Amino acid sequence: MSESVSFGYEEVSPEEKTRRVGDVFSNVAAKYDIMNDAMSGGMHRLWKDRFVRRVKPQPGEQILDMAGGTGDIAFRMEACGADVTVSDINQEMLDVGIERAMKRGLDSLVWSRQNAEELTFPSRTFDAYTIAFGIRNVTHIDRALAEAHRVLKFGGRFFCLEFSTTEWPGFKDAYDFYSHKLVPQIGKAVADDADSYRYLIESIRRFPTMPEFEQMIRDAGFVRTRVEPILGGLVAIHSGWKV
Ligand SMILES: C[S@@+](CC[C@H](N)C(=O)[O-])C[C@H]1O[C@@H](n2cnc3c(N)ncnc32)[C@H](O)[C@@H]1O
Repeated sequence: MSESVSFGYEEVSPEEKTRRVGDVFSNVAAKYDIMNDAMSGGMHRLWKDRFVRRVKPQPGEQILDMAGGTGDIAFRMEACGADVTVSDINQEMLDVGIERAMKRGLDSLVWSRQNAEELTFPSRTFDAYTIAFGIRNVTHIDRALAEAHRVLKFGGRFFCLEFSTTEWPGFKDAYDFYSHKLVPQIGKAVADDADSYRYLIESIRRFPTMPEFEQMIRDAGFVRTRVEPILGGLVAIHSGWKV
């Protein structure tokens, strides 16, 4: 039987998932930043601040921000003095990021189009690997985790910020209503694109639970793994070390 993977609530071939995820981010690139604020009420900024505090980027460290999109995580890490490479499979997302970086006068970032599943970087290149709201869009998550492990130096650290499943009962119901009913409408109103935002919500629902994802990180070879739930697990920071 041929392999199938989830695209939102649909089962599709791996090639089709990669193509359709590409279409989603090409469609949303121009409005991506404004939509993030609209959908999260600005909270994504706080989650990203917290995430980068966990990473603790040091001056001169080589950090790969994978699925870095329009640069939100990279800009924060660059401000700490780290040497950051921003990678994403989608050139349109990277182009928006490059334009934002130019407006901020940031010229030290390296922008490199890459598929998280098959990186062109040599093994043991980076001190840290970050991926924020990106891994659930990757077709083969296990391959991306294996690549993260490969490109990290010994002693390197892995950090993932991703939506997960909140375990707060009352909050869960309100969030279900908000995400399934309101987010596509906000997507329609702000970006004239309900379908892309419907996919983004569905992909959150299909993502493994926190313990399952932690196990996947361990299976890729990381040790001392940790999960830090935010808002009961609505969002979670997963981390691990390569030793
Ligand atoms: C929701 S955006 C997150 C962007 C940014 N990290 C942030 O937090 O704002 C997800 C990103 O994952 C990228 N992506 C999806 N599949 C990918 C893959 N296989 N390899 C690299 N990037 C991928 C998309 O192009 C998109 O830019």
